Amino acid sequence: MKKINGKVRVALVGTGGISSAHAKGCLAHANKIECVALCDISEANLKARSDQLGGVKARFSDWREMLRDFGDRVFHVHGKDCALSAEGLYDCGNFQPPTFAKPPAFGGMCWRYTIPGHGLMDWVAGFRILKDLGYEGCVSVELEDANFNGTEAGEKQGFVLGCRYLQGC
Ligand SMILES: NC(=O)c1ccc[n+]([C@@H]2O[C@H](COP(=O)([O-])OP(=O)(O)OC[C@H]3O[C@@H](n4cnc5c(N)ncnc54)[C@H](O)[C@@H]3O)[C@@H](O)[C@H]2O)c1
Repeated sequence: MKKINGKVRVALVGTGGISSAHAKGCLAHANKIECVALCDISEANLKARSDQLGGVKARFSDWREMLRDFGDRVFHVHGKDCALSAEGLYDCGNFQPPTFAKPPAFGGMCWRYTIPGHGLMDWVAGFRILKDLGYEGCVSVELEDANFNGTEAGEKQGFVLGCRYLQGC
């Protein structure tokens, strides 16, 4: 991994609830970190987060465009994915935890974290852009997937399958 000198500049994809905390962190440590770009399909959330950060000029509605513009400054790739459940969304909605139903580990009723390749992320598109831009860094896989966590054998299998999927992208 390359050593970063000076201020760390970040681009955020998703400007909803949790990004407000990320923005607060950027503001609290403004001498060390700066948010230079935002991406969201919601104009309202983009504006709210940009306002909170004091105005962010680079705004995108498509993460691929953002990656094309900023990808030559990516120094690390994190391998994690997220799957959505239409059935869970229909049954329980997404506003509050269910009263009786129990969500899967590492997830809620309508979503769950997965190994790379078992979720919605378009890794082929992401790697194509990074490859075009000359990315040569590593990809570290984070294992939070109810299908694999819990036993040593399952966790090893999760890493192997996640890495194999990424190698094929
Ligand atoms: N809230 C937390 O405490 C927390 C903690 C850790 C991780 N996370 C993870 O962070 C992510 C965001 O959580 P949140 O609570 O901010 O959710 P949220 O629903 O408040 O915000 C999600 C944002 O993503 C945007 N979005 C949806 N599809 C998009 C797309 N294709 N391209 C760009 N933007 C898109 C939505 O418009 C929305 O603004 C989730 O994956 C969540 O699991 C959340």
